[in-house]
Amino acid sequence: MNTLLAWRPAADTQGDRLALQSFECTTPRPPFGEPHPRPWEWEVQAGIRHKILKDTARHAHLDQRLKLAYDTEGLAAVVAHARLNGSPAELDVPPGAPVRLLIAIAVAHRHRYNGGEFADYAFTEALYDILDREPDADRISVTAKIDFRNRASMAMAERNGLELAVPGCEDDPLGWWFINLER
Ligand SMILES: CC(C)(COP(=O)(O)OP(=O)(O)OC[C@H]1O[C@@H](n2cnc3c(N)ncnc32)[C@H](O)[C@@H]1OP(=O)(O)O)[C@@H](O)C(=O)NCCC(=O)NCCS
Repeated sequence: MNTLLAWRPAADTQGDRLALQSFECTTPRPPFGEPHPRPWEWEVQAGIRHKILKDTARHAHLDQRLKLAYDTEGLAAVVAHARLNGSPAELDVPPGAPVRLLIAIAVAHRHRYNGGEFADYAFTEALYDILDREPDADRISVTAKIDFRNRASMAMAERNGLELAVPGCEDDPLGWWFINLER
């Protein structure tokens, strides 16, 4: 990756709507009704295509944020996060610290399989945006719920300092990951 892209909040404009609706962060669905090889990625992509813009507006009271980065080929990456009400029992949250949930971090398929540099760029943007949005907090807990089969996402979380608090499993696939940020 040679160029740092500019990030900006998504807008409810035709341009951003169309870009989100056609965003591709995973491989296409196979033909003949065969299952997708990584349905957890397909679900993330479907949420980004069809739900995330409305969800972001609906959760403005939780300061939900949706940020986009475009490159010359179109939408290149998406990050979303929001404040959680209260502290989940699963996490060791410092007293008084706000908790932010990483809702989505996804990079366009053309930026995947390159060692994670672009993914880490998106992850860093999410953390800086969280710090920006919590200007009065000395400590901020950041959590992500990651499907235990989503190895690419768990590897990204580990590279960026998150720890696993509660592992996912077949019955409850979403594991809890967290990091406590300090200013
Ligand atoms: C999560 C995400 C941003 C991480 O991106 P990333 O760090 O660039 O990781 P990649 O997508 O390249 O995937 C890493 C995988 O590719 C493999 N890989 C890395 N470089 C490779 C290369 N040059 N050739 C082939 N495979 C490679 C890794 O071994 C790893 O495989 P594994 O899953 O079997 O362990 C990205 O995978 C993504 O957008 N996924 C779809 C959306 C999603 O699921 N988001 C997370 C939940 S919100």
